[in-house]
Amino acid sequence: MRESRSVVLKGGVVIDETGERTSDVVVQNGAIAAVGPDLGGDRVIDAGGCVVAPGLVDLHTHLRQPGREEAETVESGARAAALGGFTAVMAMPNTTPAIDSAAVVREVLDLGAVAAVDVYPTGAITVGRHGERLAPMAEMAELGVRLFTDDGCGVQDDRLMRRALEYSTALGVTLAQHCEVASLSEGTHMNEGEWSSRLGIPGQPAEAEELMVMRDLALARLTGARLHFLHLSTRGSVAMVAAAKGGGLTVTAEAAPHHFTLTDTCCGGFDPVFKVHPPLRTADDVAAVKAGLADGTVDAIATDHAPHPPEEKEKPFDQAPPGMLGLEYALALAITELELEIQEVLALLSWRPAAIARIKDRHGGPIAEGRPANICVLDPREEWVIDGSGGASRSSNVPYEGRRVRGRIRHTFVDGEPVVFEGMAQR
Ligand code: DOR
Repeated sequence: MRESRSVVLKGGVVIDETGERTSDVVVQNGAIAAVGPDLGGDRVIDAGGCVVAPGLVDLHTHLRQPGREEAETVESGARAAALGGFTAVMAMPNTTPAIDSAAVVREVLDLGAVAAVDVYPTGAITVGRHGERLAPMAEMAELGVRLFTDDGCGVQDDRLMRRALEYSTALGVTLAQHCEVASLSEGTHMNEGEWSSRLGIPGQPAEAEELMVMRDLALARLTGARLHFLHLSTRGSVAMVAAAKGGGLTVTAEAAPHHFTLTDTCCGGFDPVFKVHPPLRTADDVAAVKAGLADGTVDAIATDHAPHPPEEKEKPFDQAPPGMLGLEYALALAITELELEIQEVLALLSWRPAAIARIKDRHGGPIAEGRPANICVLDPREEWVIDGSGGASRSSNVPYEGRRVRGRIRHTFVDGEPVVFEGMAQR
């Protein structure tokens, strides 16, 4: 319970999975106390012209703690998340050490307990993310971990992946795969195609991703396990997931903002800010990812917020680490670049990822009396220009510098506390 005085959000358009209506929303004692017309409260916030929605949920955030605090901390990453309208983030396990035991899960939970938004650690599938033997998933699941991944790389060994899927079903958790066949991607730095040839940069083919999607669909069929595909980037991957869903498989998928807004032509200036895994693909792949987001094949937008400090990221293209920031820009990029109704954008960023993460008891549920007050308030029409150095992250590897976008977060409430107010982080 973070605020006992009541706050009323007045005159906004409430949008959640149940629909859309103009309504006041009263927040008190960490919960939504009332939703309806002509409501009063101790403090009135004008939400006229704004959308009041469940907080956004990021399935894919690199918070870098423990071990890489010069790039990001749980605190700074959570602040960036709040500024982007997120009330919950899944913290990826490629930290140092990896989140592959109860001890490291506890450490991240403790750091998250004082952060601006809810931080849910994900666990590694294999010890150290080395892909050799299963991590103690049960002890992590006991602490509430529901999503397991070796993100940063995929589980290469077919038999181990099969066992992990079987085990995940027994534990009631979901595996999330970074699809990349290492033998095809090793030594590469961008997408393989016309631009990699022109630039003389070794590229990885779309098949590096697609072969693992294909294998994992086969293993999901074999085991009956749930499986989530991280950051899908190619037309072929989207098509395979569409066919698998049509065939009744319980798979889900996400796409990252950079995979529906940028192409491999961006690498033309050898600027490593455009280096990412999976790599930026072709305009045709971008069109397929957008279509997949529009027709529900791709269930969620997930940022893959991957901070790297300038001394590392500003190396020559082939030496720079892959990754780009996303938390503060995902919503605006989605509103601006996807031709979707705002409710569909919110579905992709809030209630669908919340369902995949199995946190709908706290995030992404309807704006209704009695629900936890995890809410974002956004102005869908405000235009602004992205300034990569002006964010809350400790890093500034933003590939959208100078881009004009539409849609901005005004306020973010976590358990009723305004962690972002009038676009400013409050802690
Ligand atoms: O570009 C990427 N960066 N892709 C990943 O899968 C990992 C991430 C990172 O941790 O930097």
